[in-house]
Amino acid sequence: MSVLVTGAGGFVGNNVVRRLVQQGRPVRAMVRGIDKAKMRLADVADKVEFVQGDVTDRASLPPLMNEVSAIVHTVAIAIERGGQTYEEVNFQGTINLVDAAEKAGVRRFINVSQNGARPDHFSRFLRSKGKAQEYVASSGLEWTAIRPSAIFGPQDEFFNAFARLVRLTPIVFPLVGGGTAEFQPVSIYDVVETITRSLDDNDTVGKEFELGGPEILTLGEIQKRILNAMNEKRVLINAPVGLLRPAVFVMEKALPGTPVSLTLLELLKEPNVVRDNALVTYFKMQPRPFSGDHIAYLRENSAGSAIKRFFTGAAVN
Ligand SMILES: NC(=O)c1ccc[n+]([C@@H]2O[C@H](COP(=O)([O-])OP(=O)(O)OC[C@H]3O[C@@H](n4cnc5c(N)ncnc54)[C@H](OP(=O)(O)O)[C@@H]3O)[C@@H](O)[C@H]2O)c1
Repeated sequence: MSVLVTGAGGFVGNNVVRRLVQQGRPVRAMVRGIDKAKMRLADVADKVEFVQGDVTDRASLPPLMNEVSAIVHTVAIAIERGGQTYEEVNFQGTINLVDAAEKAGVRRFINVSQNGARPDHFSRFLRSKGKAQEYVASSGLEWTAIRPSAIFGPQDEFFNAFARLVRLTPIVFPLVGGGTAEFQPVSIYDVVETITRSLDDNDTVGKEFELGGPEILTLGEIQKRILNAMNEKRVLINAPVGLLRPAVFVMEKALPGTPVSLTLLELLKEPNVVRDNALVTYFKMQPRPFSGDHIAYLRENSAGSAIKRFFTGAAVN
């Protein structure tokens, strides 16, 4: 029996797949593009069964459920692109997957949700994720929800986007919204560990786990740490959200790989900080900090990869 990982070519998904393979578990990786996912998972590709599926296509899902013991659901979009909407992918896509799992008799379901997600959130993104989790919780599945703050690690989108911007801005660097928004960056390796442990721990069934790193950091502090990790110096200038809005609007329309959207910009209004860090209180782990060797990967961004990512939307790491 396999563990089915949805979004297996994505940042969280490919790290979950890799860890499950390391643990010697049979893995079925659900992706939209098999060739692209095989390249990303090249080091373990021969130990993974790749299958094609789209959560918005209900009919594509039931055939993927054969001989599956558990599902780790990571599919979601943070930015609406290419006609995909939060409602269709994050909410309806989760409904489609949950329904297919129930019908096929797959009982165990780990839902990778998001810190702050709730059905009545002011943000359409966090609302879609909140409604998705509400549907999962109302199902007959043995579910566990993982709710991380911003996740860092090689291939992350959020922190690497700042590093890419650093490569394109030689002198000054914008301190977004004055840099006061709060985050609790959590390592991808810690997040993945909680997911794989949950698969083996029946006490996690029916529970939601908020995950954060060891420190609450302002965006300004995060930007300074990114600059330090890259051995770069910039003059930080305050860029109020109101001033950034028109630029972000244009970027969203014009750049296939825009690092930011108006929806994500408005999320800065609410601290992305966890109340009860389950990494410590439940999983008894020592979270990796957003510093030192843990963020050395940010250095690998080049001006060329930044341009490729922003202007074509192609994955660059
Ligand atoms: N990254 C973070 O900081 C963070 C923090 C908290 C929670 N999370 C949660 O973690 C999960 C994974 O996020 P991530 O950062 O790994 O995102 P990601 O890298 O963008 O991965 C998402 C994956 O979903 C796939 N996908 C998109 N639309 C799909 C569809 N219609 N059908 C099937 N697959 C589809 C994408 O496939 P393609 O490659 O084909 O586009 C991609 O591989 C999400 O649920 C997110 O809410 C992330």
